[in-house]
Formats: sequence, structure tokens, C-alpha cells
Amino acid sequence: MHFNHPATKYALSRSDHETQHLQERALLWNPSTRQLFENAGIVQGMRVLDLGSGAGDVALLAADMVGPQGSVLGIDLDSAILETARARVSAAGYRSVVFRSGDVRDIDLGHDFDAVVGRLVLQYVSDPVAVLAAANRHLGRGGIAAFQEADWTIPVRAVPPCALLDRVSGWIREAFDRSGSDIQMGAKLRRIFLSAGFPEPKLHANTFLGGGAEWVGYRHMAGLVRSLLPLIEAEGIAHPEEVAVETLADRLRDQTLSGDGVVFYTTLVSAWVQKD
Ligand SMILES: C[S@@+](CC[C@H](N)C(=O)[O-])C[C@H]1O[C@@H](n2cnc3c(N)ncnc32)[C@H](O)[C@@H]1O
Repeated sequence: MHFNHPATKYALSRSDHETQHLQERALLWNPSTRQLFENAGIVQGMRVLDLGSGAGDVALLAADMVGPQGSVLGIDLDSAILETARARVSAAGYRSVVFRSGDVRDIDLGHDFDAVVGRLVLQYVSDPVAVLAAANRHLGRGGIAAFQEADWTIPVRAVPPCALLDRVSGWIREAFDRSGSDIQMGAKLRRIFLSAGFPEPKLHANTFLGGGAEWVGYRHMAGLVRSLLPLIEAEGIAHPEEVAVETLADRLRDQTLSGDGVVFYTTLVSAWVQKD
């Protein structure tokens, strides 16, 4: 099923599979997100607003860092995925995390936060400056903004080169691009922060690099292709037989191993700032 909400250019299919893969993908991103939150100064007791919570991985991370004295409010358009997020938060025993279904472009929250955060959400939003400007209004002096977005224009590549990997990264980039989501959001974060009225943010880029038989990246890439498959097929980007998604992770692994190579996978850009 495709999610065709006018408020988002979200390209990934909406299904149990996607909800599960969102959580698997988070395992790759989470260490760099924790690092971002540490760099940004998110500490015990803070009230955090998480934009585009999805299955709740960022909210869970923030809840861990702010502790029981702090709180997290997560917003997402998709009320079904928020049920998963709520169940996970409750299983983890966090009492101070609340999710609300809604459009991040239209946040009317009625109270203030110490930090506003988001991961892989601004690329889907038609007016990211307006979203951050609205979030900015909910931050007082010393408030923190910390965001992470991918940049798919930085080539994903294997060393030595791997033809299958080149094709797969081309499908992913093209599918995101044709869905209207912004594949260069990572590089645009600095300008978006400034346009939303924040001071000059600090920036960091993190490229996920791996190789060997056990690397999680092959499954990660194949899972992303599976989530984008309806779009890949509908747009004629690749034929299902060529994608052969059931065996894709194994083929990526085998071909990388045959060259004893490494893969430079997605680049996530982090931007963070504390208001004067
Ligand atoms: C790729 S997921 C990322 C989820 C989570 N931030 C993470 O990193 O695990 C993007 C999420 O943003 C949500 N989203 C996209 N546009 C939105 C909007 N305008 N308002 C609220 N949520 C939105 C989608 O529903 C989806 O759950």
C-alpha cells in the first residue's frame, strides 16, 4: 500500500514489513543519533519534541537520555505506526513518552520544549523551513535543535567496485527522487536552520562503512529496496525479476565478499545548535 497523504512525500510503503524494517534500519542509525544528541547537549530532565517519530526509535533514544525526570512528545502523521511506537515505549517501561498523531507542518503544541529533534523526516516535508521555524517558537533561550538527514547524492559505492551495488543504490536514489522527497536534505540542513531563525549550526557527516560476511548493511539496503519496491515497479526504475528482492541481501553480500571489499553506504548529516 502507498501512503498518499498531501502533507508528506513519504515514499516508503506503509505495511507491517515497513514498520519492522524501520526498526531494523534504526539499529544502524542509532549510535550516530545518540552521538548527535550528546554533542547537542541533550541531558537528564529535558523536555524533547521529536518530529516524524515513525516506530519511535528516536523518541526511545531521547527518553533514555532525558531519564524519568524528562519527557518526550513524538509527532507523526501515521497513527497506525504510532501504535507500534506506543507499544514499544510501554514495553521499555518509559512513562514520560507520549505520541500524538499530526502534521509536523502544523504544530500547535501549547507549551515549550528544551529540545526539538528529528531524524529522516525533513526530506519528506514540503516546507522544512516552516517546520523548523514553528519548532523554534517552542524553544526558549538555550533551547536545542538537533536533526539528522540523509544525503543520497553522495555516492554509495564499493571498493573494489561492485556492479550490483551501483545498480541498487541507483534504484534507491531514483525512487526517492521521483517520489518528490529531497535526496539532498543532508546538505541543505545548514541553510534550513539559518532560514528558520537559528544561529549557525554545527555540522557532522557520518558515512556508514562496512564489509565482511556479517555486516548489517546488505540487509539494510535490501530492506530499503523492498520498502521502495511499489514505487520502483510503478515508475519502471527496475523490473521485479532484476530486483529479485528475496535474494538481494545475499547477492550484495556475496558480490562484496568476492572482491573482499568494503561498502561506503548512506551518508547521514547531523546539524545541531543551541539558541543564545
Ligand atoms: C523514515 S521515517 C523516520 C522515523 C524516525 N524518525 C526514525 O528515524 O526512526 C519518517 C517518518 O516521518 C513521518 N512524516 C513524514 N512527513 C510528515 C509530516 N508532514 N508530519 C508528520 N510526520 C511526517 C512519516 O510518517 C514517517 O513515519
